[in-house]
Amino acid sequence: MKRVLVTGAAGFIGSAFVRLLLDKRPDLRITSLDVLTGAAGLLANLDGLGAASHRLVQGDVCNRALLDSLLADEDIDTIVHFAAESHVDRSIDGPGAFVRTNVQGTWTLLDAARQRWLRSGHDGAGCRFHQVSTDEVFGDRQHIGDATEDSPFRPRSPYAASKAAADHLVRSYQHTYGLPVSITFACNNLGPRQHPEKLVPLVILRALAGQTLPLYGDGTAVRRWIHVDDHCRAVLAVLDAGQAGRAYAVGPLAGTSNLDLVQRLCARLDQIRPAAAPHADLIRFVKDRPGHDQVYRTSADRLRTELGWRPRLDLDQALDLTLAWYLDHPDWIRKATARPAWSQWLSTWYGDERD
Ligand code: DAU
Repeated sequence: MKRVLVTGAAGFIGSAFVRLLLDKRPDLRITSLDVLTGAAGLLANLDGLGAASHRLVQGDVCNRALLDSLLADEDIDTIVHFAAESHVDRSIDGPGAFVRTNVQGTWTLLDAARQRWLRSGHDGAGCRFHQVSTDEVFGDRQHIGDATEDSPFRPRSPYAASKAAADHLVRSYQHTYGLPVSITFACNNLGPRQHPEKLVPLVILRALAGQTLPLYGDGTAVRRWIHVDDHCRAVLAVLDAGQAGRAYAVGPLAGTSNLDLVQRLCARLDQIRPAAAPHADLIRFVKDRPGHDQVYRTSADRLRTELGWRPRLDLDQALDLTLAWYLDHPDWIRKATARPAWSQWLSTWYGDERD
């Protein structure tokens, strides 16, 4: 890995990955690609990441001509593909954007990589296409236990289906053309710079504003959580030592209910802002997400045994760091919530009419 293209680099996880690379691999040449006008990418997420070895290109993963020129001009040998529409609720309201970005975008990128890396006289040696995927492709695991990397895909939301379709394409390019690929299936992430449409930042920002905290259904849905930096370290471990053609699930050993997670956040907020305690009084059980999956669970045994990866932070540590980051970054919150698409998730959509 010498010259890396990171797609979705201004998103929550993509920007954390660029930070990790700049810190741990200063020798790499990094090209960050982000459409910036999409749902998740925010230029402020890349603040402070200017470096001679890092270039940001604004563009769409569906733009084949742009991808062809980037791969050739930058002589890219590694693609880490984070760019995706990622919010389940939005995929229910408008699946089209998910099919376009997640399916067509992944295919466009795969095909550009095939043409560049497997051109005549080349066999893709030293190259890698890494697909960042999700535990949601394995569907609801309520009564069937942990999924492994070889479990059948059973996606149940338009978002999960679009990621599964993209993952199938990735695997097909390995099998059919010999493109060197790898995949990670990650659980829920938390940490700095996450879009406030997602549960953790939504709860933090709404609680700080004294607004109600919407929990879908009865709050018993279970998710597994890791800090975004632990996820990024897993992706780097796979790039460094994971076999081409292999997939790795990323996650902790246990999950927790949404209610428990939100109560943990409220307890922390009570300590920091005692005048507004108890924050848990803001919790409201609201109409459930259509088709809401109750439990996601994957086994990260392969990542642990083959690559020695372990999450460094447990859930409480990750929550403490995340909360502290949001409290310390009012400028980021201002910039993030100034975008209509972001503020919508904090006010209109989750307004009290949903209670
Ligand atoms: O499992 C990995 C996935 O985790 C990623 O692939 C997705 O991109 C990411 O968005 C996340 O999906 P979830 O649907 O689990 O994340 P979200 O933060 O939207 O919701 C977490 C849980 O909290 C879920 O059970 C729905 C619930 N929820 C969510 C929101 C936004 C609520 O109860 N209230 C809310 O307001």
